[in-house]
Amino acid sequence: MTENFDVIIIGGGAAGLMCAITAGQRGRRVLLIEHANRVGKKILMSGGGRCNFTNLGVTPGNYLSANPHFCKSALARYKPADFIAMVERHGIAYHEKELGQMFCDDSSKQIVSMLLDECAAANVRIETSCTITRVKSGDGGFRIETALGTFAAAALVVASGGLSIPSMGASGFGYELARQFGHHVLPTRAGLVPLTLSGKHHERLQDLSGVALTVESQCNGETFRAGLLITHRGVSGPAILQISSYWNPGDDLRLNLLPDGDALARLREQQAERPLAELKNVLADILPRRLALRFCEIWLTSKPMRQYRDNELQQIASQLENWPLVASGTEGYRTAEVTLGGVDTEELSSSSMQSRLVAGLYFIGEVVDVTGHLGGYNFQWAWASGHAAGSAI
Ligand code: FDA
Repeated sequence: MTENFDVIIIGGGAAGLMCAITAGQRGRRVLLIEHANRVGKKILMSGGGRCNFTNLGVTPGNYLSANPHFCKSALARYKPADFIAMVERHGIAYHEKELGQMFCDDSSKQIVSMLLDECAAANVRIETSCTITRVKSGDGGFRIETALGTFAAAALVVASGGLSIPSMGASGFGYELARQFGHHVLPTRAGLVPLTLSGKHHERLQDLSGVALTVESQCNGETFRAGLLITHRGVSGPAILQISSYWNPGDDLRLNLLPDGDALARLREQQAERPLAELKNVLADILPRRLALRFCEIWLTSKPMRQYRDNELQQIASQLENWPLVASGTEGYRTAEVTLGGVDTEELSSSSMQSRLVAGLYFIGEVVDVTGHLGGYNFQWAWASGHAAGSAI
């Protein structure tokens, strides 16, 4: 026996839940199918357990996509203020941490509970631990064969996310389904991910694991000023996660280790004020001590400041402001926050997320080739694209 719905949504993450709520509120009969044992697992683990659910400063420029214009329409129609209004209606306490990043005061569980309450109020049916065995189209709709039975609907929304964190239910299912229906899938790779070092680059830094400082990371014309953390495998921290989305193996990646002001001016000032102090001790006062000492051991000489000629100070300043970080790779999908690439936006409507190839088929959230920066931008894309599809179905 086949059960009929107006909409079937595959994937109970941020995008799928928002789409279900929006379509359900419009009176559509919605079935949401999730293969994991509960919905919203990534929401639960996000933002260190407090869910950075949006960012007040969202602009299309915060997203990577082969078509940077694609995200504009959905983002313009569902804004951070719309999601915040829902959070407030549910009495969830929240705060701005920094740079427009909005977090729950208490727990990301509250966001999942809120979305589930909204689904219940909109009569959305949710099936968890439900494995899909086959998806077929025909007769003006879709038939989904699952371990729990066969379901049919005129509209099918693919909200199955990307490949990041397979242990949380991530799968390539959405990409396979896209290909099954003739869609192109742009190459995928891990984004917002720590970088690894190897060989001498690793040996030089590995015992500095735990050292943290503010840097400016630069690659392929993008710059992020944020924290860097040396790990036992390489480098992490927001400055690295952000730039990792713009980095491909072999690309030139530079770090400005002294992003607060003019390094040369600081060195000249120190030379005038502390002519007898050794460079390593001067640097240890402006950088984490262990890093400053290692820097001098490997890349710079250390002698009393008064012995440096000005052109030498210029070279040192340039090295500190333009340090080439030779990464060997990324930590991959195991720890990546997002997946870059995905379903090609050329074949989707930017206002409804509907396929231009197959009527009634929609793709939303991370499975689409739209990836945000770190800081609540990815959830905002999930809410906005879910809302766009839910409003159109
Ligand atoms: P999402 O991955 O959330 O959901 C997809 C769902 O589909 C999953 O529940 C999955 O189990 C299900 N699924 C997959 N295959 C299926 C199948 N075959 N059948 C049925 N169901 C299937 N972003 C942000 O803005 N702020 C933050 O604080 C964080 N923090 C963060 C921390 C960590 C550790 C990670 C890994 C990621 C983040 N992110 C984030 C990114 C954010 O979590 C991500 O961009 C969104 O969850 C994407 O939402 P989707 O609904 O598209 O996919």
